[in-house]
Amino acid sequence: MEKELWKPGNMLYPLPVVMVSMADRQGRYNIITIAWTGTVCTNPPMVSISVRPERYSYPILRDTGEFVINLTTRNLTRAADFCGVKSGREVDKFEKLGLTPLGADRVKAPLIGESPVNIECRVVQTIPLGSHCMFLGEVEAVHADGAYMDEKHKFHLEKAEPVVYSHGAYYVCGEQLGTFGYSVRRK
Ligand SMILES: Cc1cc2nc3c(=O)[nH]c(=O)nc-3n(C[C@H](O)[C@H](O)[C@H](O)COP(=O)(O)O)c2cc1C
Repeated sequence: MEKELWKPGNMLYPLPVVMVSMADRQGRYNIITIAWTGTVCTNPPMVSISVRPERYSYPILRDTGEFVINLTTRNLTRAADFCGVKSGREVDKFEKLGLTPLGADRVKAPLIGESPVNIECRVVQTIPLGSHCMFLGEVEAVHADGAYMDEKHKFHLEKAEPVVYSHGAYYVCGEQLGTFGYSVRRK
């Protein structure tokens, strides 16, 4: 096993790639694509997103302290990429991509209707780290698309074909290899 030594960098892959939606004080919507995101606490439920201060989205997040994390799917991949290369300074991303803004329950930021799961968040801590500033968000509500619910009310996210980001490329999740604890479960 011969390993190459690389300089320090981010190689924690694959990662979720999410579309983060928000509304400014004037009620104008924007979407930014974020891969530097994670679940950080179960109780209270908390997530993080890390955003570069030069993004158009940054002052909106700072000012309003509200955002929605929208999970991405095979059908949303092109839109997610677009929201990750075009700025809200130049284009209304909802309008340009034909995405549907839906009213959220607890925050003014809109949900993206086409996403199967929308996570409403309120910023509880803002932590400048260097190139990125991390927003720690407490989850205030979660919306799950009924289209992926079976007759027993079990949610099948896999049917939405979730997408991950790995080392510069997008991949769709596919084959299930096991379920939580399967390695020790009696047959
Ligand atoms: C796959 C992907 C992941 C990205 N992840 C991040 C991220 O974690 N943090 C960040 O600040 N920008 C990230 N970006 C870049 C922003 O999404 C991009 O600069 C976007 O155009 C900013 O939009 P805005 O100017 O409307 O805020 C990512 C872009 C892509 C394509």
